[in-house]
Amino acid sequence: QTIRLEDYRPTDFILHCVDMTVRLFEGRAEIDTRLVLERREGVAEDAPLVLDGDELTLTGLALDGAVLEADAYTATPDRLTIRQAPARDRFLLDIATRTVPEENTKLMGLYRSNGIWCTQCEAEGFRRITYFLDRPDVLAPYRVRIEADRTAAPVLLSNGNPTESGDLGDGRHYAVWDDPFNKPAYLFALVAGDLDSIREPFTTASGKPVELAVYTEKGRAGQAGYAMDALKRSMVWDERRFGREYDLDVFNIVAIADFNMGAMENKGLNVFNHKYVLLDPQTATDADYAGVETVIAHEYFHNWTGNRITCRDWFQLCLKEGLTVYRDQEFSADERSATVQRIGAVRRLKAHQFPEDQGPLQHPVRPTEYKEINNFYTATIYDKGAEIVRMLATILGEDGFRKGMDLYFERHDGDAATIEDYLACFEAATGVDLSHLAVWYNQAGTPTLSVHEDYDAGTDRLTVTLRQSLEPGAAGTRTDPVHIPIRFGLVGSNGQDKDAVPTQGPDVEGDVIHLTEAETTLVFENLGERPYLSILRDFSAPVNLDFAQSEADRLALARLDPNLFNRWSVLNDLIGEAMVRACRAGGKETASPLPAEIVDAVLATAADPALEPAFRAQALALPAEPDVARMLGRDVDPQIVHDVVDAARRAISTAGVQVFERLAAEMATVQAFSPDAESAGRRALANAALAYLTAATNDPAAAEAQYASASNMTDRLAALGILVHRFPDAPASQAALDDFYRRFETDELVLDKWFALQATVPRPATLETVIALTGHARFSMRNPNRVRAVIGTFAAGNQLAFHRPDGAGYRWVAERLVELDRLNPQIAARIATTFRSWRSFEPTRRGQAEATLRQLLETEHLSTDLGDILGRSLK
Ligand code: ARG
Ligand code: ZN
Repeated sequence: QTIRLEDYRPTDFILHCVDMTVRLFEGRAEIDTRLVLERREGVAEDAPLVLDGDELTLTGLALDGAVLEADAYTATPDRLTIRQAPARDRFLLDIATRTVPEENTKLMGLYRSNGIWCTQCEAEGFRRITYFLDRPDVLAPYRVRIEADRTAAPVLLSNGNPTESGDLGDGRHYAVWDDPFNKPAYLFALVAGDLDSIREPFTTASGKPVELAVYTEKGRAGQAGYAMDALKRSMVWDERRFGREYDLDVFNIVAIADFNMGAMENKGLNVFNHKYVLLDPQTATDADYAGVETVIAHEYFHNWTGNRITCRDWFQLCLKEGLTVYRDQEFSADERSATVQRIGAVRRLKAHQFPEDQGPLQHPVRPTEYKEINNFYTATIYDKGAEIVRMLATILGEDGFRKGMDLYFERHDGDAATIEDYLACFEAATGVDLSHLAVWYNQAGTPTLSVHEDYDAGTDRLTVTLRQSLEPGAAGTRTDPVHIPIRFGLVGSNGQDKDAVPTQGPDVEGDVIHLTEAETTLVFENLGERPYLSILRDFSAPVNLDFAQSEADRLALARLDPNLFNRWSVLNDLIGEAMVRACRAGGKETASPLPAEIVDAVLATAADPALEPAFRAQALALPAEPDVARMLGRDVDPQIVHDVVDAARRAISTAGVQVFERLAAEMATVQAFSPDAESAGRRALANAALAYLTAATNDPAAAEAQYASASNMTDRLAALGILVHRFPDAPASQAALDDFYRRFETDELVLDKWFALQATVPRPATLETVIALTGHARFSMRNPNRVRAVIGTFAAGNQLAFHRPDGAGYRWVAERLVELDRLNPQIAARIATTFRSWRSFEPTRRGQAEATLRQLLETEHLSTDLGDILGRSLK
């Protein structure tokens, strides 16, 4: 069944408030829900009240206190229809349901993870707890009473503020929570269990005291300190940057082991995958620290962008997600290095969103139809959505953007809003016409920005022609011109930006060209010399850049550009293009796909002490195999791609031995571990140097030594990665893997790293390894993190084994998807998206993938989730 944006209409009934009692027992949960409802004005008096359900059992039903006769309603597992609801007055509806949280393997609704009761309701999980008007535009205050055994669940949590608790006799107790803020059901949460916690007081800018707590499984609260620190920094940042304060007396975070996603922003009670909470230097890498900081901030920021202002319907998902990703990116940019953060965000966008937008799963940032909303929590909604907000901020400038945001919070607090509502605030606050920006929300596909430059020395005139185009794609949406803000500079030979005011051409505000037409031309005069054109600085728009800039100009910019992001991007593009050329030539000249000048530029950047270490590490991080595959676009042979990337790595390593030896020594960890960005940057550069040195010597000894002496997980895992990926058959590698297992056997999160590392060994035989890993005693199909670590990373990150020409990799993953689909369709559907670029491979693999997908689609009782992904992938 397809849901369409154009079919939106408000509910027939208005919900005034929700009062729930949830009684938890071993093996069952009893849920009593009392709703105060009222027929909306103008709705026909005989229109029935229809509530959503999903695998529910009804155990009681009363209207205004009177038990309903069997012929007054129809209850199925997925719907409750009440034929005659009162025509005018408010009425009470009492619904009793019963569920078995222990058997809820979908991890949506109320379930149990390691003995802890918890919930996940976004997008449509609340209907797995009780019958409800389960849609984001139905808002109400909630009062929730939880009852449970005191030993099994000394901690009882829900949304809002705690108001009452006490004993019930028989070893049972209760707690009552009151959430005064209107909220949709997807923000409901309940947690009960034997949990440890850390607590800290916080005072908001206006002096309101808030009690903060992070709850963990028993014995793990000692690993929650960094999450708490990140939370406090997020709270302060949102006050300073956006004037947003927290609004309840308590803010609780709970870390859960079995969780379908990263985390969830339930009002006052954020529930997290414990991967994004639990950390210490021995068990977590610098990347893990950065991930925790980002996700904690993201969920906290949702309190305003998502909770106080929510979405009218799920087509507007990017209203809260794109905006909140933008906000968490800005937070990380302020807390860390803005340039390095931006490089990371652009790498992720190109690695995940670009292939989605350029393949069969493409959809507009605001889709117009869906079959399964869970399949739309995508890189396009989140990350391209964030890019649109970033363009908005670039177009309006910092002040204009803030004015628009202020108006949005003022106008829409308490609303379930739309993208149109959002954009209207910025137009009203600034007077800027955003009609061309709005087009970004409605068109699928990545636009191409073509740049052509022509300098005439005689007249000292630079002419720049800009053209935008968009291929009509699978989504069949329009291809109108969009507003592309292009940040740029004209760099002189002295490394300084020239005064770049065009004498002809469109609007240029400061350093931003506003391209709103299909094509435009700018002329710059009196430059004194031919400048280097630094274009699309900071990746100011999510486009494919088509600019045949000379290698000499780009190498000059890699050295000179005052915009550090572009120094990285010109160099990275040069490397990528050289790799693509080598692949097209059949990978034959694998001696070195990289011209010596590019190698020199990389090494010069890596060695430059004026640049921060994290940036230098980025310069050394080559495009990965999937990046090269994406740039190739068609007839991809992963073996050739692998050989070319490998040859490029060896070329840099042999030329750079001295540089890397010096870096390894200079950057070596000396002081005690600190997770700050500076220290993390030094570790990143040291570990990049180690990887290149090892490639140069082809000797695992240095990695072996670092593995043994490492004082933190970043250095230990980097060394183990080099051993296992570069020397998979060396006895030292197996010994290190065994040692790693023994050391961290009791820590599920570290074991995920152990599994993932082995699943990504780049060679075809890794298929046999992952088959063995899924038989390992610690493998479980019921833990999403473990499934992602083995099957997910294999399919997404192992170009040689997943894409084996004999098709065995595809078939094995397909078989696992069938098994997984019966337990947890959401995770199955997510992993299935790794097939999405199947058409871009050479004919043998393409044929194998297509046959596998077609066969998979024939499976009986496929979930809507998996069926939707497969159907669209084959379209
Ligand atoms: N709103 C959550 C977040 O971005 C994610 C929820 C994902 N839900 C889903 N059904 N996949 O923070
Ligand atoms: Zn979010």
